[in-house]
Amino acid sequence: MDRFRIHSFDVLDSTQIQAKKPQYHAGDVITAITQTAGYGRRGRAWQAPIGNLYFSMVEDYTGPEHLSWIGYAVTLGLYDAIAELLPAGKVLNVKWPNDLLINHCKLSGILLEIDEDRLIIGIGMNVAITPVTDQPVTALNSNTPVMYEAKDILPRFLSFYQRWYEVGQANGFAAMRDTWMSRAAYIGNEISARLANGNILTGVFKDIDNQGALVLSTESGQYNVTSADIYLKEKE
Ligand code: BTN
Repeated sequence: MDRFRIHSFDVLDSTQIQAKKPQYHAGDVITAITQTAGYGRRGRAWQAPIGNLYFSMVEDYTGPEHLSWIGYAVTLGLYDAIAELLPAGKVLNVKWPNDLLINHCKLSGILLEIDEDRLIIGIGMNVAITPVTDQPVTALNSNTPVMYEAKDILPRFLSFYQRWYEVGQANGFAAMRDTWMSRAAYIGNEISARLANGNILTGVFKDIDNQGALVLSTESGQYNVTSADIYLKEKE
């Protein structure tokens, strides 16, 4: 926790945009109560109703190898921060690459951006409000007997994340792979992976390789997918 400095704002365009300003360095964490121009992966808008959690962390970017584990360290930190708040019967999963699901509905998402020698890691979590979207989504407080505030979650996350960050720094994704796999949704299921170019690959979700890529077994062979959105095939 000690290496983090939290900068809190009421309103920002986006904590990502703020975090890219030159005064922020590794360990700075920018959070806002709401955002007017929040965005997610692939430039999609990220709604920011008051009551949910929005923050961006700055880390040093040490090269492509860093990307093979950092997103997983963040996701596992979020998982640990949330798991012990949920009552029995609620199923918490990680969904490749970096989402958290409760009972198969999206709770949080992560956006990783490289800004020269910095990584800007944006996290949005539905704490109090379930946004209206065309995907199954949920909010933490819809699943818990206790009502949490966004500000309760951030320090919990940072302490768990720091542990996974140290694991990744020492031994990369290989050291967190078993934990990630044991928490993952859709392993062994037939899924569709929508690639950045719009193509869809369909096959069985076999594994994650040591570079953090999704191993997909298709009729035309095995693909190691580094970037995609995945869906259970029957939900297409
Ligand atoms: C996703 O597409 O699932 C990732 C969503 C990331 C949203 C967060 S909210 C805080 C930070 N600021 C942004 O504008 N985006 C990220």
